[in-house]
Amino acid sequence: MKSLAVLVSGNGSNLQALLDSPVRPALTLVVSNRSQAYALTRAREAGVETTVMLRNQGESRDQYDRALADYLNTQGIELVVLAGWMHILGEHFLNTFEGETINLHPALPGEYPGLNAIERAFTDGRAETGCMVHKVILEVDAGEVLGVSRVAIETDDNLASLTERMHQAEHNLLVQVVSELTLDS
Ligand code: GRF
Repeated sequence: MKSLAVLVSGNGSNLQALLDSPVRPALTLVVSNRSQAYALTRAREAGVETTVMLRNQGESRDQYDRALADYLNTQGIELVVLAGWMHILGEHFLNTFEGETINLHPALPGEYPGLNAIERAFTDGRAETGCMVHKVILEVDAGEVLGVSRVAIETDDNLASLTERMHQAEHNLLVQVVSELTLDS
C-alpha cells in the first residue's frame, strides 16, 4: 500500500470521497495552501493529519515547491493527489515526485484546461463533457491520462445540474484511480 498525501485548497468534496473509500488507510496526510479550506475540517474529522503550508510573502514559487516537496518526503509520501489544489507545481516538485503526482480535472483530455472547465463546456453547448485523472506535468491539466469518465450534457441541464453530476463522476473516478494506484502496490 502506497502512502498518500492529498493536496487541497477548497471545499474538499473529492477528499471526502477518498476518506469514505477503501483508500482511507493509505491516506497519511492532507496539505492545504489555504488556512480556511473546508477540506481541512473534513480531514480532521476523519482523523487524518493536516498541514497548512502558506506561501510566505517574498517566497518564490520555486522556494515554496522545494519546501513542500521536502516536507512530503520527510513524511514518507509516495503518491501525491491534487484534488482542488490551486497552485501550479514547478519542475523541482514534479522531478521529486516524478510520475507520482496526479491531478483531477473536470474536463475530457485535451479540452478546457484551466479554470471554470464545467461552465465553459456548458456554455459552448457541448453534448458531452467529463473528467479525467492524469499524471501531472509542467503543462497545466495535461499529462498521461489514468482514467476518464464521460458525462452527457442533457438538453434540460442547467449549469447547477450538470455541475452536480460532474462532481459525482469526479468522486467515483478519483476513488477508482487512486485505489488502483495505492492498494495494488
Ligand atoms: C473539482 O472540480 C476538481 O476537478 C477541480 O477543483 C474541484 C475541487 O472540488 N480541480 P472539491 O474541493 O474537491 O470539492
